Amino acid sequence: MTGENLVSAYVSDAERDAEVSVRPKRLEEFIAQHRVRDQLDLLLKGAMRRGSPPDHILLSGPPGLGKTTLANIVAAELGSGIRVTSGPAIERSGDLAAILTSLAEGDVLFIDEIHRIARPAEELLYSAMEDFRVDVVVGKGPGATAIPLDVEPFTLVGATTRSGLLTGPMRDRFGFVAHLDFYTPAELEALLRRSARILGVPITDEGAAEIAGRSRGTPRIANRLLRRVRDFAEVRADGVVTLETARSALTVYDVDALGLDRLDRAVLTALVDSFRGGPVGLSTLAVAVGEQPDTVEEVCEPFLVRAGLLARTPRGGWPPRPPGTTWGVRRRMVHLAPILLPCPIFSPPSPISRDPNVICTAFGLLRRRD
Ligand SMILES: Nc1ncnc2c1ncn2[C@@H]1O[C@H](COP(=O)(O)OP(=O)(O)OP(=O)(O)O)[C@@H](O)[C@H]1O
Ligand SMILES: [Mg+2]
Repeated sequence: MTGENLVSAYVSDAERDAEVSVRPKRLEEFIAQHRVRDQLDLLLKGAMRRGSPPDHILLSGPPGLGKTTLANIVAAELGSGIRVTSGPAIERSGDLAAILTSLAEGDVLFIDEIHRIARPAEELLYSAMEDFRVDVVVGKGPGATAIPLDVEPFTLVGATTRSGLLTGPMRDRFGFVAHLDFYTPAELEALLRRSARILGVPITDEGAAEIAGRSRGTPRIANRLLRRVRDFAEVRADGVVTLETARSALTVYDVDALGLDRLDRAVLTALVDSFRGGPVGLSTLAVAVGEQPDTVEEVCEPFLVRAGLLARTPRGGWPPRPPGTTWGVRRRMVHLAPILLPCPIFSPPSPISRDPNVICTAFGLLRRRD
């Protein structure tokens, strides 16, 4: 993984193995998300007491926050087996019927990216979830017959990064729906201390805090930055992750104090310098920074919006203007525009812009009144 996508919340195949070693195995090891943890704890303990599988569970939330981890934890806590598949992998309903009918009693079936499941398979899933039976259709046309097959009682755990794309009937069949939120820096610090302990990396509290602050609220990114900082600490220092080694390493990897990388800064710089503060259409902006619109939309935009540095506005509209600020030039088309915030902390002239009217602060871009 290069410095350029070091702060992407998505996981590469090569990185999956590295993730396994620090992945919590039980609910009590799962850091933060207290509400979801408590609710799951009750759900699982209640079901175990009754000796029947718990309700089906839907986990939604942005990438890298712990959905796959929780699905595995559910199976471990129940002491059941787990079968793992994903929406895109189930192309035909027959594929799903084969999986369902081979489940043992009490098994957990984990379907990742469940919003991408094909429609016929989704319909088959409805009856399996509700009545623990499926009708497998044999043959085609008027001669086709449906053969009912029993499915052992099981628990479906579905994960989705796009819960809005789930159909209503699908969502309604989950008895327990949990949404995972981004982690606070303090929570990520605790997570980093745990990961460092497992990896055998000595880390100071300040070192953990420094990495946590640059991790975009995402455990996956925190763990990834920790591995990179460990490399730096081992090669260029005495192996201990301190404030200094974390700072120096993340400078080398081009991840700044807000967790912005080169592309994020290019987007903000283009908005401010080339488009005079925007607003500007996504595809135009993508051309300006030499990236695909998808990358800007899926990798940069969510975090920049969440960090209060960017607003997504309807076509032809403008983001709400915070009191005490003024917009720059208003443009015709709007998709993305930097948020202008009144801010008490004036940092030195912006490292991301040469425009003297724009100041980069800890809270975002500030454009002085004209
Ligand atoms: N609450 C947590 N405590 C400790 N580690 C966590 C926690 N949540 C996530 N992690 C770590 O972050 C990594 C990413 O988590 P996971 O794979 O579960 O994310 P995900 O939500 O399934 O992401 P995706 O949407 O990309 O599938 C895991 O390796 C895990 O170690
Ligand atoms: Mg996952």
